[in-house]
Amino acid sequence: MRQPLVAGNWKMHGSRAENASLVSGLLDLLQPGKRAEILLCPPFPYLMETGRLLKDSGVALGAQSVCAESQGAFTGEVSAAMLKDVGCRYVLVGHSERRQLFGERDALVARKFVAAQGQALVPVLCVGETLEEREGDQTTSVVSRQLEAVLAVTGVQALAKAVIAYEPVWAIGTGRTASPEQAQEVHAMIRAKVAERDATIGGSVRILYGGSVKASNAQELFAMPDIDGGLVGGASLKADEFARICAGAG
Ligand code: 13P
Repeated sequence: MRQPLVAGNWKMHGSRAENASLVSGLLDLLQPGKRAEILLCPPFPYLMETGRLLKDSGVALGAQSVCAESQGAFTGEVSAAMLKDVGCRYVLVGHSERRQLFGERDALVARKFVAAQGQALVPVLCVGETLEEREGDQTTSVVSRQLEAVLAVTGVQALAKAVIAYEPVWAIGTGRTASPEQAQEVHAMIRAKVAERDATIGGSVRILYGGSVKASNAQELFAMPDIDGGLVGGASLKADEFARICAGAG
């Protein structure tokens, strides 16, 4: 059985004070004993304080990106070892905003994935097509390419300690959610690609959906057989909304 995972990706929002009140508000609202694992990914400067607030809560800490290099003269970058050092358990790699706005190509994403696992962080590999690609019937080829780029470097075994997030670019921050059927179709395709290589890992790897997840649509998305939770942007900035999304994951 795959344990559901709901992750909040706060992107570049808020202040130190807002961040702390969001974490505290969330901790008050989250229902203990629920089945789903919860993960919070605040901006880098707030990781340590968030980690302190989350101590002993069972809620995991993650970062939004990581450097592919392990250390050295890489101004502005943050290494996997540093993330581990401040208490991260997870890190996003290949988020569409990194790919589209900061030129991160498949090969770099694969290196970041490897760097994360090198420090025993769990990479959350984000994949997804643009609207143009979907309309051009390229969803399967684009998502497969993004996945294969990592598998070619790491081998399928690496997915035993990773999470995949399908985030159609056209659904991110647009209010336009993929329908449960649209998302399920891609999730099933991703799982089949992994299962082709290793049936056990294909069956156990968690695949999250991201893109305008809200309390009002979370439950029907999470009810789909191959959707194991969500990667939530905007709606994770409101404690009550995010807590309701988490409750929807079981
Ligand atoms: P939204 O939930 O704001 O659409 O963002 C999704 C996302 O990119 C999470 O990583």
